[in-house]
Amino acid sequence: MESVVSYPDRGHGGRSTYRGNCSPLLIEDLIQQYRLPYLSDYMVGSGTTEDVCRAKGVPGSFLDLNRGFDLVEMDIPDIPRNIFWHPPYGSMIIYSGEQYSAEEVLHRYGIDPKKNDLSRCKDWAEFVDMMNYCMMKQFAALERGGRMFTLMGDMKKKGTLYSMLADIVKPGTLEQIIIKMQHNCVSSRTTYSGKFVPIVHEYLMVLRKDAALMFPVSLPRRYDYDVRDSKAGTWRDVLVSILSDKGRLPLSEIYRMVDGHKRTYSNQHWREKVRQTLQMYPCFRSDTQGIWAYAAA
Ligand SMILES: C[S@@+](CC[C@H](N)C(=O)[O-])C[C@H]1O[C@@H](n2cnc3c(N)ncnc32)[C@H](O)[C@@H]1O
Repeated sequence: MESVVSYPDRGHGGRSTYRGNCSPLLIEDLIQQYRLPYLSDYMVGSGTTEDVCRAKGVPGSFLDLNRGFDLVEMDIPDIPRNIFWHPPYGSMIIYSGEQYSAEEVLHRYGIDPKKNDLSRCKDWAEFVDMMNYCMMKQFAALERGGRMFTLMGDMKKKGTLYSMLADIVKPGTLEQIIIKMQHNCVSSRTTYSGKFVPIVHEYLMVLRKDAALMFPVSLPRRYDYDVRDSKAGTWRDVLVSILSDKGRLPLSEIYRMVDGHKRTYSNQHWREKVRQTLQMYPCFRSDTQGIWAYAAA
């Protein structure tokens, strides 16, 4: 196995008609590369991991909402040595009610699969919360020394990239990120306009549990950054930002936009600094009425 994998022929196991299924050859490679004696999959979908494990004589638990197991609400039944996890790609493919009959699951197992189906989250933020809850639940159950293999993709919507790898919580030791090339997926049959860069890969993240009771966790944080309160930005950056966002402004209005922000705390002569900066850089221009503007090069 290398850090880029590609399986143009899918191999045997699972069902290629179950949308978002993965190649059994990936599971085979993981079993061989990491010499896995045990592998569980709690979102096994069409049964790919199960079929490969059975063929290789590797035991594990193979569950899914479509088999009446809800990872969000139910207890993980085993103490897994290793886990393969292939969550839905946000709401790109809806599972309950579309890839399988929700009524049949309700009738057979007495649970409504639509309730906690990760593919039915109302937005990306809710999906990330549920995905991260499922990650921590699985990692907590994992045996010490075990590994968690997570296969994830990216989605592009209206110019924004929704990246599972960027937003997922990462407990334990990050051991490897493998790029998996994608073949035969619906999006690869679509013709895009020249501007769009088609996504032709997924990621497989390998996390190792080196300690059981206390382990490090890395969680991406999203927040609004105001350049007027930052130490990293310069006065030039502040003034370019104000004039780019607000357009032409008189000096009094520029002062008003800066006043009270952290950048002014350490310099009581900040108004002089604003004037000096506006005059120093040719990217700032003022007209005869003293209205300032930013002129990009
Ligand atoms: C990308 S598919 C897995 C595909 C699988 N690797 C295969 O090759 O067929 C994601 C699966 O997650 C399941 N799922 C979504 N939410 C779940 C939950 N709360 N508990 C258990 N399974 C869930 C879906 O039913 C779906 O089968």
